[in-house]
Amino acid sequence: MTKGWTKSDWRAKPRIQMPDYPDQAALNAVEAQLTQYPPLVFAGEARKLRAQLADVAKGNAFLLQGGDCAESFAEFGAVNIRDTFKVMLQMAVVLTYGAKVPVVKVGRMAGQFAKPRSSATEVVDGTELPSYRGDIINGFDFTPEARIPDPQRMLQAYTQAAASLNLVRAFSTGGFADIHRVHAWTLGFAEHDKAQKYRELSNRISDALDFMTAAGVNACTAHSLSSVDFYTSHEALLLEYEEALCRIDSISDQPVAGSGHMIWIGDRTRQPDGAHVEFCQGVLNPIGLKCGPSTTAEDLKVLMAKLNPENEAGRLTLIARFGAGQVGDHLPRLIKAVQEEGANVVWSCDPMHGNTIKSSSGYKTRPFDSVLREVHEFFGIHRAEGTIPGGVHFEMTGQDVTECTGGLRDVTDEDLSARYHTACDPRLNANQALELAFLVSEELSSLRNERLRAAQ
Ligand code: PEP
Ligand code: CO
Repeated sequence: MTKGWTKSDWRAKPRIQMPDYPDQAALNAVEAQLTQYPPLVFAGEARKLRAQLADVAKGNAFLLQGGDCAESFAEFGAVNIRDTFKVMLQMAVVLTYGAKVPVVKVGRMAGQFAKPRSSATEVVDGTELPSYRGDIINGFDFTPEARIPDPQRMLQAYTQAAASLNLVRAFSTGGFADIHRVHAWTLGFAEHDKAQKYRELSNRISDALDFMTAAGVNACTAHSLSSVDFYTSHEALLLEYEEALCRIDSISDQPVAGSGHMIWIGDRTRQPDGAHVEFCQGVLNPIGLKCGPSTTAEDLKVLMAKLNPENEAGRLTLIARFGAGQVGDHLPRLIKAVQEEGANVVWSCDPMHGNTIKSSSGYKTRPFDSVLREVHEFFGIHRAEGTIPGGVHFEMTGQDVTECTGGLRDVTDEDLSARYHTACDPRLNANQALELAFLVSEELSSLRNERLRAAQ
């Protein structure tokens, strides 16, 4: 991508949110080992995702990105992977129906281990310790030993990512992803007493599927009904890990991050001259860039030039995360900056990270209504500007956790303690995630109808 770039150039740049490993020799040994390991993804797949995101940028596809805030070693298992994959497929069917375009599915999965933190230390009952930074860096337990950064954790994260990806690849093509099965699960959701308003849309999808079957379109005649493309993504925060898995694509001769298909730069590490931007600019993968209230138009212009110098659609996804009630203050000025540069980008909406609050019961939570409101505001602004709302980015799980309040089953502040399992931020549970997909689908469908009418 950038001529003369090397995978270790980031080391000469200011870095933040990265651990200081106390044992340099141990770190070097792990890096040397990971450098020998096979990459987790193939460059051709990253290029294919870029091409699909180019369709998103043009409004001919829609991006669904979702998964854990932080994957954890303790929660690792087939059931968790299967259920998150399953609910993402359900969401994708519902969104496809509303948008009438293919949905590009990208998991926050198989590599989403490192976390930026607002504070370097955490105080519990008067004891201060270094913050937990994700299982790839240190341990969640509140003890001085657990909080020491340990490079061996990178090897465990790699192994977990490889096994997760292996299972996801098997599910994607092995029959699990059959559209009729996926929709049957959704019909189960729509039978819930309070899901009445989603029943009509589910029934319409059933009708469409029945019609296709009658017309001879089935898993034998149409491969896409029984298998899916599913991609992985994570924040490229721990650059030692990213560098060690960086490879040269044998086809294009370009560097590729072998740690996942898409990587993103977080809201705290997007300094134009910082280490994270330096690393990401050199690899051919699609790159995400979180844009928060503090993103200035000037910085965004510099970042777009650095990260996508050839202005290729599909290379750069801007992930807006402002918070409900704040989208109107920030999105228009950033859309303007994009337009002034004539930049090709995907606009995606992360309605999670600007809406985290402390509940009355003391848990970090996100009200479903705030999440939904931010999505509405995002769509409303793109509607007004005539630009393309390209995708959504959720922290979610296939499990029935109680981490975000609200939704159909109305999780309350008091309920949060029942099944609060996240290693970091609160996630939507399976029902909340699917409900949100129905609401986004309606939004996409009305935007499509409006634009079709306007074009007549
Ligand atoms: C995240 O996506 O988990 C995250 C930390 O987001 P942000 O960088 O937008 O705060
Ligand atoms: Co998060």
